[in-house]
Amino acid sequence: MQKKSNSSKNILVTGGAGFIGSHVIRRFVTKYPDYQIYNLDALTYAGNLENLKDVENEENYHFLQGNITDEDFINKIFKEYRFEGVIHLAAESHVDRSINDPLAFAKTNILGTMILLNAFKELWDKDWKGKRFYHISTDEVYGTLGKTGLFKETTSYDPNSPYSASKASSDHFVRAYGETYHLPYVITNCSNNYGANQFPEKLIPLFIHNIIHHKPLPVYGDGNYTRDWLYVIDHAIAIDLVYHKGTDKETYNIGGFNEWKNIDLVKLLCQHMDEKLGREKGSSEQLITYVKDRPGHDLRYAIDASKINKELDWSPTVTFEEGLSKTIDWYLKNEEWLNNVTSGAYQKYYAKQYQ
Ligand code: NAD
Ligand code: TYD
Repeated sequence: MQKKSNSSKNILVTGGAGFIGSHVIRRFVTKYPDYQIYNLDALTYAGNLENLKDVENEENYHFLQGNITDEDFINKIFKEYRFEGVIHLAAESHVDRSINDPLAFAKTNILGTMILLNAFKELWDKDWKGKRFYHISTDEVYGTLGKTGLFKETTSYDPNSPYSASKASSDHFVRAYGETYHLPYVITNCSNNYGANQFPEKLIPLFIHNIIHHKPLPVYGDGNYTRDWLYVIDHAIAIDLVYHKGTDKETYNIGGFNEWKNIDLVKLLCQHMDEKLGREKGSSEQLITYVKDRPGHDLRYAIDASKINKELDWSPTVTFEEGLSKTIDWYLKNEEWLNNVTSGAYQKYYAKQYQ
C-alpha cells in the first residue's frame, strides 16, 4: 500500500535496492521524516530489498517496482506522486558486464535517464522552484589517468568502457536538459565505493566471498591498476549534502583521497581476512591468481575532491583501514546475505512478495 502526505515533499530515489542506493535511502528515510521517499527499482540481479529490511516499515518509505525504461509507467508515477526531487542512481553498474552486453547499458543508463528527465520536465513545465534532478555518476567518465594527475570537474570526458560511455552520455543528457529546458540539476562523479551490501561481482566483495570459500582471487593483468576507494556511507553523506546544498548546474567530484594499486589492496584484504578468519598468516594470498586482463582496462583513477571539500565542507569520515575492517566484518556476519545473492534466492523471495 502506498502512503502519501499532502504537506511533505515526495522524493524519488531510483535504484534504491542496490548497493549505494540502499545507503542513500536509509539516510534520507531516517534523517528526513518530512520527506516521503519513493524507492523505484526494477530489482535486477543487483537489486535486493533485503538491503532495506531495517527501514521497509517506516511510514515515509515506499517501494515502487518498475523499470526506468518503461515510459508509460514512469510518466504515470510522476503524475501520481509529483516528485519534487529525483536522486537517480538506477543503472547497470558493472564494467565487466558492460563488455559482454553493452546494449543493456545503453538502454538503462542512457534511455532510462532520458525518460526520467523527460517525465520531470513535462511534470513541472518550467515551474522549477524548489525542484532538483540529481544524477549520481562516476569518475570513469573521464577515462584513464597516467601515473600522475587527478580528475577535476573540468577534465574532459573520455570514456573507455561501454559502462563509462553510457554514464558519460547520461551526464551529457542531464546537462543538455539543464541548458535547453533550464531543468535544475546537479551531477556528482564519484570514485569506487566499497562497504556493506555491495554485490559480489565488484573487486572487494567478490574477493571477500572467494576467500571465505577458498576460491581463486582473479587479479586482472599484472594488478598494477589503481583505483581511489571511498566508504559507501561517506558517499551517502556527500549525496545528502549535494542534494540539499549543491549549486544548480554544477558538478562535483567525490573521492576518498585513497588510491590503491589493485594488487596492494588485495594483499591488505588477504591479511585482514587471515586475521579475522583465524587462518594461517599468508594463506589467503596463496589464492591470488593472475588472469587475462580486462579489455580497455583503465590504468588509474584518482580524484581531486577539493571543490566539494571547500564549497560543501565534505570530506571522508572513515579511514580506509576502518572502512575495510567494517566491510569485512559485515560480510562475515551476513554470510546468509552473501549466499542468498550468489544463489539468487533473494530474488525468488521478493518476486513472490510483490506479485
Ligand atoms: P548497483 O548495481 O548495486 O545497483 C543498481 C540498482 O539499480 C539495482 O537495485 C537495480 O535493480 C537497479 N536498476 C538497474 N536497472 C534498472 C532499471 N532499468 N530500472 C530500475 N532500476 C534499475 O549499483 P551501485 O553500485 O549502487 O551504483 C549506483 C549508482 O552509482 C550507479 O548509477 C553507478 O553508476 C553510480 N556509481 C557507482 C559507483 C560504485 O563504486 N559502485 C561509483 C560511482 C558511481
Ligand atoms: P571493479 O570493482 O569491477 O570496479 P571498476 O572496474 O568500476 O573500477 O574493479 C576494480 C578494479 O579491480 C579494476 O581495476 C578491475 C580489477 N578487478 C580485478 O582485478 N579482478 C576482478 O575479479 C574484478 C571484479 C576487478
